[in-house]
Amino acid sequence: MNQFLEIAADAAREAGALLLAEFDRPKNISYKGEVDIVTESDRRSEALIVGRLRDHFPAHAIVAEEGGEGAAAGSRYCWHVDPLDGTTNFAHGYPCFAVSLGLLEDGDPLLAVVYNPVSRELFTALRGEGAYLGQKRIHVSPIEKLSTSLLATGFPADKVRQSQNINYYWAYTLRSHGVRRDGSAALDLCSVACGRFEAFWEFGLRSWDTAAGILLVKEAGGAVSDFSGRPYRPGDPALLASNGRIHDEMQKVAADVAEHATRI
Ligand code: IPD
Ligand code: CA
Ligand code: CA
Repeated sequence: MNQFLEIAADAAREAGALLLAEFDRPKNISYKGEVDIVTESDRRSEALIVGRLRDHFPAHAIVAEEGGEGAAAGSRYCWHVDPLDGTTNFAHGYPCFAVSLGLLEDGDPLLAVVYNPVSRELFTALRGEGAYLGQKRIHVSPIEKLSTSLLATGFPADKVRQSQNINYYWAYTLRSHGVRRDGSAALDLCSVACGRFEAFWEFGLRSWDTAAGILLVKEAGGAVSDFSGRPYRPGDPALLASNGRIHDEMQKVAADVAEHATRI
């Protein structure tokens, strides 16, 4: 399995270098929906990663955001690839984006690689073997209370008008040290894994956004579920990831919001 990790990490580093080289150049932006941006860089990064995975693991399935591969029927192993998580940041010149590769075995996260080319931070995890930032083992934060926690969330680029998340954003902001909205779910999950944030939540994320990040959080000692505490699988509609210690409090606030929020 270490060999799988090396190949995935090399592909992520190479794709990250490509993104960084293109970051300062004028972007060729197109739209998947009214506000859902995709750049040439997303496509180039994806082609590079999918090519590497296809060369090394021809029997594995690959699900990549920009549609680079169809599923290889019958494989127990499926890679979920976000070639550029944080496209809106990237397109606006805000240096917060990453490459995310998660490998699922029969639907369960087995391997995670998230690479931030700007900070050159490589986050990796293998099921049962801990989470790492570079060579250093990482752990979730020891903070016990929501009131002294720093949180993060995100809003979908598409369907933002239908999102109820602004109600959750409001409720958590008033009860914590604050809620960051940094525009890369993969990096938000890494920040929970290494103790920078105590929790992250979002609705409507796709499997490629979370397949790697949730394994990093779990292997760093954190908790991953939906808002009712049920197990979360990549692509499920609601994700709550935390250091575990404030998970109950996060769930209680969410239950309160769900009961009282007015539709907007
Ligand atoms: C987006 C980012 C963002 C999250 C959105 C995602 P993309 O992914 O992860 O933080 O709030 O829901 O779609 O489009 O930049 O790959
Ligand atoms: Ca994404
Ligand atoms: Ca993306």
